Amino acid sequence: MSQTLEGKRQLLLKLRKASEVGGGEARINKQHEQGKYTARERIERLVDPGSFLEFDRFVVHKSNNVGMDQNKFLGDGVVTGIATINNQKVALYSQDFTCWGGALGAAHAKKICKIMDFALENRIPMIGMNDSGGARIQEGVEGLAGYGEIFYRNVKCSGVIPQISLIMGPCAGGAVYSPALTDFIFMVDKTSYMFVTGPEVIKTVTHEEVTKEQLGGAQAHAEKSGVAQFKCINEDECFERVRELLSYIPPANFTKATAKYTSDIVYRDNVKIKETVPANPKKPYDMKEIIFDVVDDAQFLEVHKDYAKNIIVGFASVGGIKIGIVANQPAILAGVLDIASSEKAARFVRFCDAFDIPILTLVDVPGFLPGTEQEFGGIIKHGSKLLYAYSEATVPLISIITRKSYGGAYLVMASKHIKTDVNLAYPTAEIAVMGAEGAVNIIHRGDLEGLTGKAFDDKKAALMAEYEDNFANPYRAAELGFMDAIILPEETRKRVYEYLMALKNKKQEKPKRKHGNIQL
Ligand code: HXC
Repeated sequence: MSQTLEGKRQLLLKLRKASEVGGGEARINKQHEQGKYTARERIERLVDPGSFLEFDRFVVHKSNNVGMDQNKFLGDGVVTGIATINNQKVALYSQDFTCWGGALGAAHAKKICKIMDFALENRIPMIGMNDSGGARIQEGVEGLAGYGEIFYRNVKCSGVIPQISLIMGPCAGGAVYSPALTDFIFMVDKTSYMFVTGPEVIKTVTHEEVTKEQLGGAQAHAEKSGVAQFKCINEDECFERVRELLSYIPPANFTKATAKYTSDIVYRDNVKIKETVPANPKKPYDMKEIIFDVVDDAQFLEVHKDYAKNIIVGFASVGGIKIGIVANQPAILAGVLDIASSEKAARFVRFCDAFDIPILTLVDVPGFLPGTEQEFGGIIKHGSKLLYAYSEATVPLISIITRKSYGGAYLVMASKHIKTDVNLAYPTAEIAVMGAEGAVNIIHRGDLEGLTGKAFDDKKAALMAEYEDNFANPYRAAELGFMDAIILPEETRKRVYEYLMALKNKKQEKPKRKHGNIQL
């Protein structure tokens, strides 16, 4: 006899319930004991309440290997669907560690691919929560194939929709390459790790002894490798940061930017930073003081906060207009450009350009870091990435030189010559081929030859003062039109806002090509 209507309803409710328990109570308890939420709890905490619409909750695998035909979980170890965050649609997947350690088989991968295709076709951000033992061993090459399909889609989505990866448990072997292909990686301190080869293999091959945490924990990737843009103290903080990030970025490329709510007065003077840049060019100062005073409500979401701290990148808004900020940090290594900082800034500039986010660049850079380590490490190719990124950017670009801007670094840091729209400088700006001492040592070697002691010191000081009068100011560049205006620090916020408004409809065409060949 066929089921009654009520019976059919009850069956659906029963199946729904069954799909919600994942790998069972014992495994859920284990997950909680480790300070981790389950896949569903994560979604619930990340998205707007009640907004999650699940896809494919009854999918199961088709494997018969190693007794797998008797070992099935509804949903196959990953929860996928769409939801809203800050009232904006997003697509997401969340791997369920309670089902075979979140390991990825063919059906699991297919679910992820389906939701990625949905995200791409509907131009909404894609969020992946990773907590997995990698390719499902019982499914052999089918798991590997599944990863390949995901990687391919990560690349297809790149620059079209923002892709965000949350690492909330293991992520090892080739599996790391899906997050690596996305725009932002968030890691949770102490409970997540990422590596291509784990501690055991490393011990066998190189005899190095290292723990999982030291090798691939959140700290290692946020501070040393730069693989992770955000390190969070726990999963709740991670969800908070993701929501914050999404409030600055559009759902897709070619989407009209929405304004960020602010009650901060646009036309206020930046009185706090009037004297932030010291008169003595050798004295460090904190560029973040300038950033916090210029942006709306002192709200700045720093990206890659703990990595290559000699450059600062992150998101903010000015008068409600969402912007990306790139700024040299004179308080760390005098704000010098090196391999790590060039790569960090280049990637950020390219993200902003891909998603039409205007960029404000604050410049105080003494040059590139000298040394064999940098040269052998390829500062030539890595430094060129930043030059490339700025030169190819077609979003509104505004730069302000607060103090030093020397040599090649002057050109790289959003100079007029690589087509920045508006170049501004504070009266404290120094734009030259190099600093006074280096320049005097080279061009006045003959004048100093034979002098010793006080006579040498006095002559050198006089030559340096003369050089500084000549070159260490913004007026030479202003005479040539390389600086559009010299502004006072207290005028910064209103000027930035006005120029951003003026650049709102910027359109810049580039010659047709398949793609450029950035130095990778
Ligand atoms: C199938 C797996 C699995 C896997 C874990 N499990 N990894 N099942 N395939 N890859 C299962 C376990 O059998 C166990 O099942 C449950 O998940 C939890 O695992 P535990 O070991 O009990 O948990 P824990 O002690 O926390 O250790 C987690 C772990 C460990 C570190 C992830 O399980 C582990 O090392 N797994 C293997 C990782 C690995 O080498 N994967 C392949 C990587 S290469 P029960 O039934 O007991 O709950 C790869 C290639 C990708 O992924 C290629 C892309 C191109």
